[in-house]
Amino acid sequence: MDVEGLKSRLAEANQEHLLKYWNQLSDSEKSQLYKELNHLDFKEINGFFKTAMEDLASASEKLDDVLEPLPKEVCGRVVSTEEEVLLQYDVDGLTEIGESRVAVLLLAGGQGTRLGVPYPKGMYNVGLPSGKTLYQIQAERLLKLQRMGEAVSGSSCKIPWYIMTSEHTKQSTLDFFKKHNYFGLQEEDVVLFEQSLLPCIGFDGKIILEKPHKVALAPDGNGGLYRALHKSGVLKDMEGRGIKYVHVYCVDNILVKMADPIFIGFCMSKGANCGAKVVEKAFPTEAVGVVCKVEGKYQVVEYSEITLKTAEKRDSTGRLTFNAGNICNHFFTLDFLKFVSDPSQEKQLKHHVAKKKIPYVSEQDSKVTIKPDSPNGIKMEKFVFDVFHFATSFAVWEVIREDEFAPLKNADTADKDTPTTCRRSLLNLHHRYLLAAGAEFVDKDGNLLPHIPSQKGEEEAVFVESEISPLVSYAGEGLEKLVDGRKFTSPVYLNQDYKMEEPEIVEGEW
Ligand code: UTP
Repeated sequence: MDVEGLKSRLAEANQEHLLKYWNQLSDSEKSQLYKELNHLDFKEINGFFKTAMEDLASASEKLDDVLEPLPKEVCGRVVSTEEEVLLQYDVDGLTEIGESRVAVLLLAGGQGTRLGVPYPKGMYNVGLPSGKTLYQIQAERLLKLQRMGEAVSGSSCKIPWYIMTSEHTKQSTLDFFKKHNYFGLQEEDVVLFEQSLLPCIGFDGKIILEKPHKVALAPDGNGGLYRALHKSGVLKDMEGRGIKYVHVYCVDNILVKMADPIFIGFCMSKGANCGAKVVEKAFPTEAVGVVCKVEGKYQVVEYSEITLKTAEKRDSTGRLTFNAGNICNHFFTLDFLKFVSDPSQEKQLKHHVAKKKIPYVSEQDSKVTIKPDSPNGIKMEKFVFDVFHFATSFAVWEVIREDEFAPLKNADTADKDTPTTCRRSLLNLHHRYLLAAGAEFVDKDGNLLPHIPSQKGEEEAVFVESEISPLVSYAGEGLEKLVDGRKFTSPVYLNQDYKMEEPEIVEGEW
């Protein structure tokens, strides 16, 4: 350990306090702290902090005057697209999948602080009849899509799954997939890579120590993707496999249509190198970022960056002018990803600053870590969508919210984006799939239940619980042969795992 060298680097960066407890540390603690500090580029971090604080100071400036709505020609909406055009997008997307030219990339490096479980969010089970976790649902969607791609191409295909983790999520994610035999996927097609961490910094510019031998570190945001792609060799791996298109998404959307062929086909039809799937913003003050243009460049503008007047603006059809709600669901060509991940572009992506309550080592007793009641410093994060700025050909595909977007953000004590709302959204979607395929539901006395859950006299609303394994159906297709004209009692589960040749229908409690 070159402690003297480290000391002088710290002094130069005005961060000497990080070795304040050095003489009290055990040998292993010393080596842990040395390793952590030695990894950090203090000059760079101080630079990030300076820019971040300048941005924070100007954060109250609104963007209203420089905001432009999306040009019509880059937009498409599932609800106003003719059936045969949708079908064509689907075929085009599936053809690319069948030729193994599509990859999916999962952003799973977040700490999930709001949900508050001590393991990665992907391992969460929202209480579905099947008990499946988010990771299992996603793995099975991929497996099914591979089979659908193979049916189109007539030969075997692969959709490699790249999973970005961070120090907090990497090992447990890996162990989880191993334990579950990759849910039927090939181990070599599930590629984990790690994003970087950045120190949390006090408002005075000093890096915060969480413990005498541990810096307070946090992942550098889901936009840390580009730096991680550059460092990890993932882009080379994609190139080696002949990938052309990449679907990037967040771990927490239980309805996510991974590598959605229709979305891919739509973006291809626009010749886009970058695309976003969006949902219609529900109401002017909804806390969702909107995709729009700012000074001629595509951007996601947060709700806090515009005034109410602009948020309430409507076009001649009565829709909100800025209505393209971002759901972290993106399409990129591999060429575009290579371009934006190059340090000369990546460096231009600014850090967003969040004031946070960051646990720190007590001045009075260094064995105690204090959890502050109010923010005492900042976390700096890059955002995945900030590369829209570089898009030379952009596409925006609007989908139906209740079919495609239900994020898991909070514990059940909150009133939105909870395990309960996610479970309900998925069960509701699958109920609708079954009804559309000709199924009916009856109560325990054999009486037909209404298609729309309704109040039964004084009793509670009757909800039908139906779940369909992704291996049975990716998005509602192919169900008629199993359920048309049949009556079911809730809960019903169309079960199939990767070891089963045929689906089985499980009814009633199990
Ligand atoms: P969120 O911003 O919702 O953060 O992430 P989170 O970590 O899941 O939850 P909170 O805010 O701590 O409660 C949106 C997506 O971006 C990923 C998350 O894993 C999630 O899929 N993400 C977030 C990263 O991959 N890296 C990060 O540094 C932050």
